[in-house]
Amino acid sequence: MSDHKALILDETRKYHLDQQGDGRFVPGVTPIWPSGAVLDADDRAALVEAALDLTIAAGDRAQRFESRFAKLLKRRKAHLTNSGSSANLLALTALTSHVLGDRRLRPGDEVITVAAGFPTTVNPIVQNGLVPVFVDIDLGIYNTTAQRVADAIGPKTRAIMIAHALGNPFEVAEIAQLAKDHDLFFVEDNCDAVGSTYQGQLTGTFGDLTTVSFYPAHHLTMGEGGCVLTSNLKLHRVVESLRDWGRDCWCEPGKSNTCLKRFDHQMGRLPAGYDHKYIFSHVGYNLKATDLQAALGLTQLDKLDGFVEARRRNWRRLREGLDGVPYLRLPEPTPGSDPSWFGFIISVDPEAPFSRAALVDFLEERKIGTRRLFAGNLTRQPAYLDVPHRVVGDLANSDFVTEHTFWVGIYPGLTEEMIDYIASSVREFAGSSR
Ligand SMILES: Cc1ncc(COP(=O)(O)O)c(C=O)c1O
Repeated sequence: MSDHKALILDETRKYHLDQQGDGRFVPGVTPIWPSGAVLDADDRAALVEAALDLTIAAGDRAQRFESRFAKLLKRRKAHLTNSGSSANLLALTALTSHVLGDRRLRPGDEVITVAAGFPTTVNPIVQNGLVPVFVDIDLGIYNTTAQRVADAIGPKTRAIMIAHALGNPFEVAEIAQLAKDHDLFFVEDNCDAVGSTYQGQLTGTFGDLTTVSFYPAHHLTMGEGGCVLTSNLKLHRVVESLRDWGRDCWCEPGKSNTCLKRFDHQMGRLPAGYDHKYIFSHVGYNLKATDLQAALGLTQLDKLDGFVEARRRNWRRLREGLDGVPYLRLPEPTPGSDPSWFGFIISVDPEAPFSRAALVDFLEERKIGTRRLFAGNLTRQPAYLDVPHRVVGDLANSDFVTEHTFWVGIYPGLTEEMIDYIASSVREFAGSSR
C-alpha cells in the first residue's frame, strides 16, 4: 500500500471517530429507527479504499464477496445484484428459461406465494405473466404453513416463492419437501432472515434459488444490493446471463475468451464465429452491483455473527419487557426455528380499548419509529386490484395484519436503553406500567 493511501485511510478512520457524537440517548428526542445500517470505521475505510482504487464496476471485490457469501450459505454460486428486488426478479425469471426444457415456467402457470409481505416477492411472478396463488399466514408467527401451501397445489402449480417474515423462518424444510414431492421449483426469499435457522439449518439453504437484500434495513448492507444463490449449475448460468444483459458469455468483467471458443460459436441465426461476448441467449437485464458496494459488503460480512447476536438479544429484551401487556399479541418464533430477527412485530387486539393508529401515533410522537408488515394483504393494494390471481382459503389473517399489526426496531444500532424505552412507552400507553 502506498504511503499516500495509508495516510488517507488513517485519516478516514479518524474522521469516522469525529462523526460519532457523544452517543447520548435522550428519550423522546433521539430517534429510535425501526432499522438502519450499522457502519464502523472499517466500513468507511473500505469504501474510501475502493474509491481510491477506482474500482467503479464489478470486479475483484464483487467476486470475493460472492465466493465468501456462497460459502456462508453453503451454495455453490452467488450472484451479486443491485437490489433484493432484482435478485427476486432474476431468481423467478430464471425459472422461465428455455434451458429448463419442459420444466420451464410458461405464462399462465401458477406460483404459490403469501398474500401478506413485501411486494417484490410477488412482482416477478406477475412480471413474467405467471399467476400468483395467494395463501394466508398464521398470526403470531406471521408466516404461512406447509399445510396451507399443500392445500394450494393444483394442476397448474409449477413453483413456490415465499419470504421468511421479518426474519422468522416459515416451515421451510416441509415446504422444500413438498416442492420436491410435486416437482415444483422453490425460491426462498431470505432477504429479511440472513442468519436464521430452521431445524438447525440456515434459512437460504433450502430453496433451488435463494435471494438476499443488502439495503440498509437488512442484516448486512451495501447501501443498495442483493444476491441470488443456488447450487444448481444450470440455474446459476441462467441467473448470470439474465443479470448481465442476457449474454451467453460468462467471462468475468475485463476478461475475454474464458470459454476458449470466443470466435467458434454458432447460435441462433447468427453467422458462425460471431463474437461470443455479443451472443444473447436470454432476453436479459443489467442488474449488476459494483465493487464499491461489494467493498462495503466484505467488511459488513466480517461482523455478521455479532449483528445476528445483537438482533436476537434486542428481540429477547423487548419480548421480556412487553410480556403480559394487555391487548397486545406478541411475536413467536416458528417452532423449530432460531430467528435472526428483522423487526419486532406487534398486533393490537381488535377488542382493545385503543387502536393500532393511536398506539403508533403515541410511539411516533416519542420518536419511536414504526413500520407495517410491508404491504399487508397485497391483493388490497391499488397496484394489484386488477392482477389475475387465485386465493386459496381466505386471507382473514392477512386482512388482520393490514388492520391491526405494526413493528418496531431491534436492529443492532439500538441500545438496551432504547429497547427499554420502547417497552416502557408501550406499557405506559397500554396503561399497565410496572
Ligand atoms: C422479504 C423482502 N424481499 C425483498 C425485498 C426487496 O429488497 P430491496 O429493497 O433490496 O430491493 C425486501 C425489502 O425490504 C423484503 O423485505
